[in-house]
Amino acid sequence: MGSLSFNVISTAPQMHPSEAAKQSAPDGTESSSNEKAAQKLVGREPVARAKVPFEKGYSQMDWLKLTRTNPDLAGLKGKSNKRLISMREVKQHQTEGSMWTVLKGSVYNITPYMKFHPGGIDMLMKAVGKDCTPLFNKYHAWVNAEFLLEKCLVGILDDTGENKRVAD
Ligand code: HEM
Repeated sequence: MGSLSFNVISTAPQMHPSEAAKQSAPDGTESSSNEKAAQKLVGREPVARAKVPFEKGYSQMDWLKLTRTNPDLAGLKGKSNKRLISMREVKQHQTEGSMWTVLKGSVYNITPYMKFHPGGIDMLMKAVGKDCTPLFNKYHAWVNAEFLLEKCLVGILDDTGENKRVAD
């Protein structure tokens, strides 16, 4: 009869987790150095913020409510929002009743959003009648405008041929 032999391998961790934690702070100063780092962060120069206090009824929540309840914020009156729109046409919409802008290739009627813009009306006025993508990205590239302005979409910028030259 043959004999079986086993190699017994220990599966216990090389080091207890609590010991490993202790190792990262051998002198017990870890928490105090963290506090120092936090203090440094808090003490950092604040980034200039130009958020404008919203008028009653014009918070971001109010905007979301409006987008959900108003079926035609873009003022399309039944027209498709997939229509190709030239820069020439965008430039024609600079009146108080109809303000259009181009953002990342989409054309939006931002008239209803004006009073809701957290950066203020004056800032958003800079977008009217033009492609505001560079300004938008300069101030807040992280903002999800596709979502916020979904109901304001009037069409897609036609940047081909002659229209491209007008846009430049
Ligand atoms: C056209 C689409 C735009 C949308 C949907 C939009 C939306 C927003 C939103 C949601 C905020 C608040 C951001 C936050 O709390 O972090 C904001 C702030 C702001 N926006 Fe806009 N924006 C638009 C265009 C612009 C343009 C064209 C300018 C500049 C000319 C501008 C300037 C600002 C400024 C200065 C603030 C305040 C920045 C801050 O909170 O520090 N925005 N905008």
